[in-house]
Amino acid sequence: MRRKVIAGNWKMNMLPNEAIDYIQAFEPMVKNAKSEVILCVPYTDLFYCISIAQGTNIKIGAQNMHFAESGAYTGEVSPKMLKSIGVEYVIIGHSERRQYYNETDETVNKKIKSAFENDLKPIVCVGETLEEREQGKTEEIITSQTRLALEGLSKEQVKNTIIAYEPIWAIGTGKTATSEDANNSIKSIREEIKKLYGEEVSSEVIIQYGGSVKASNAKELFETSDIDGGLVGGASLKPEEFSKIVNYEE
Ligand code: PGA
Repeated sequence: MRRKVIAGNWKMNMLPNEAIDYIQAFEPMVKNAKSEVILCVPYTDLFYCISIAQGTNIKIGAQNMHFAESGAYTGEVSPKMLKSIGVEYVIIGHSERRQYYNETDETVNKKIKSAFENDLKPIVCVGETLEEREQGKTEEIITSQTRLALEGLSKEQVKNTIIAYEPIWAIGTGKTATSEDANNSIKSIREEIKKLYGEEVSSEVIIQYGGSVKASNAKELFETSDIDGGLVGGASLKPEEFSKIVNYEE
């Protein structure tokens, strides 16, 4: 059976002192969690969070990276830099990066390959806009984003990629996809992976749902057949609320 992976995405929130207070409060609340727990934090919090989460079951991830290992890319952070301070996970291709920072399927693919080369585990986001959904294109969009993101990866790498299905219209809007809808979209992503990489890979790959996940809807979403946990933005900013999502089974 696949494990559940629940990741918080703090986005551009939390100063280092707030991050430290958060983890100190959060750790006892989730120490017996059955799910894997990840916090994806701003670059400036990474080092503090890694230090303070050491020896706990909380894993730390970044929210983006460049694909190159070093070079003349002012303002960017490389996978090698992330790895050097003990980062384990990295979100790649979040819709906010695709929308505001020209992230494309091609750069997403390059970044995933580079993450694996540097021993980082990618959490790759795919999802349709409201317009695409209304035009009945959801499946086409998310399967094509998945195919292009994973192009050229080995079966083993695909198995170790976490995919987050995040319908863009559900992000930060309070509108959650119904559990049935989200599960069906995730099934279509899994089906695409089966076509490309075979049954074994598709049955093992972790596919999360993201978009207005809260304590009140987490259980319903995560208990469906194909949703393997969540990528949580707003509701991950408060330790109490996020711990309820992590401990959704209780
Ligand atoms: P949200 O964000 O939970 O605030 O909708 C999810 C995300 O963007 O990863």
